[in-house]
Amino acid sequence: MSLLIRNGTLVFPQGLNKADLRVEHGKIAALGLNLPAGGSRVLDVEGKLVFPGFIDPHTHFAGIDRLADDFTSGTRAALAGGTTTLLDFATQCKGNPLSHALERWHAFADGNCSCHYGFHMAVTDWNDAVKAELPAMTAAGVTSYKIYFAYDALRLSDAAAYEVVKAVAAEGGVVSAHCENGDLVNAGIAAQKAMGRLSPDAHPLSRADTVEEEAVTRWLAIGELLGVPVNIVHLSARRALRAVQTARARGQTCYVETCPQYLLLTRAKYRLPGFEGAKYVCSPPLRAEEDCAALWAALLGGEIDTVGTDHCSFHFHGAKELGLKDFSSIPNGLPGVETRPVLLYTYGVAPGLITPSQMARVLAENPARLYGMYPQKGVLAVGSDADLVIWDRNYTSSISATRQVQQVDYTPYEGVKTVGRADTVLLRGEVVVSEGRIVAERRGRYVRRGRPWFWR
Ligand code: URP
Ligand code: ZN
Ligand code: ZN
Repeated sequence: MSLLIRNGTLVFPQGLNKADLRVEHGKIAALGLNLPAGGSRVLDVEGKLVFPGFIDPHTHFAGIDRLADDFTSGTRAALAGGTTTLLDFATQCKGNPLSHALERWHAFADGNCSCHYGFHMAVTDWNDAVKAELPAMTAAGVTSYKIYFAYDALRLSDAAAYEVVKAVAAEGGVVSAHCENGDLVNAGIAAQKAMGRLSPDAHPLSRADTVEEEAVTRWLAIGELLGVPVNIVHLSARRALRAVQTARARGQTCYVETCPQYLLLTRAKYRLPGFEGAKYVCSPPLRAEEDCAALWAALLGGEIDTVGTDHCSFHFHGAKELGLKDFSSIPNGLPGVETRPVLLYTYGVAPGLITPSQMARVLAENPARLYGMYPQKGVLAVGSDADLVIWDRNYTSSISATRQVQQVDYTPYEGVKTVGRADTVLLRGEVVVSEGRIVAERRGRYVRRGRPWFWR
């Protein structure tokens, strides 16, 4: 079955090109001017942008108590927004092998996903037996890992983090870190409570930017000592960014992810009346306007490699409310898998801050390269998967919890006016979203990933 996408404005890394795109057998078969229709079905997308399908490299749809979204609702929401592939964090249960986590995540996801999906492996209990599992992980298509420096139930010592990076590098993978100093977070929470500060506005004070900067610096030291590129997820603060810039100026290679919430929202949200601030409790916390500005400048300058969502959604009623009397009991995380592309377009591309190519780089090409999916995904090229987003740049709307696909009872972006939308989305050549509505579900396939691009 072949499809001719005609008159699109194709988004390439080098810029925009008006051309046609032919899809055959789920792949991009041809790109060029005035391609013949032959017997193909024709989709005329005059005036619209054609992006490679967006990749969200950071979601949590399972394994955490009281999550609002699972793989079924989360991947539907992703697809509705133009995300065609996402990577969720399979998390090792302490005392169990990585294979146990991988099996669990396949059981959570397989058959339920409306976009393509893969798994990072979060290592919480490092030992020789776990190390011996790495080749099996590679064979299963898991080539990226996460370690935590915060959260008592998840975090590793520096020595263990060092060993993970060393072993994963030998295996040809990449390790990301949650960079907050866990001991200092615990001390910060205790200090706030000792002062009787129990409401959501104590959350950012308990996890200051210093705590993130310190962990980023330590993580970079591990990468530097081993001579191995490392990745920092959900970077939120200008001080942490400066640590990255300093390391890069020394010649170190490292990668950085930020998220829309750190570009667009500030800690002022924690001072909203009543318990509203709980809706914005995530870690690292939202920062100051100056931090958002620094992250935007870094995005413009190509210093941010990927923009993920860290979608980790909890209902306000019944879940976030667990922390009504104690901010440290508010479950950490924000929803966002649905809104990442439209927010980046609205605040980045529409006002001319970034180009569509830059948007494609941080939402598709770079995640594909870093996480071993390039050039199968992340780029419009002959032979690549026909995961495509046809983007209507003139569509305007606003974000509302009542109209969202993600199944959570609020959105951090309520009332935000948006420009553009994923009008039509194709998954391996099949139209799965049309005029912004999902028309085919559960078509997502597990993505068996290869090595990160930097090892090839
Ligand atoms: O608050 C957050 N970010 N929750 C999700 C877990 C994580 O640290 O990524
Ligand atoms: Zn994290
Ligand atoms: Zn996360």
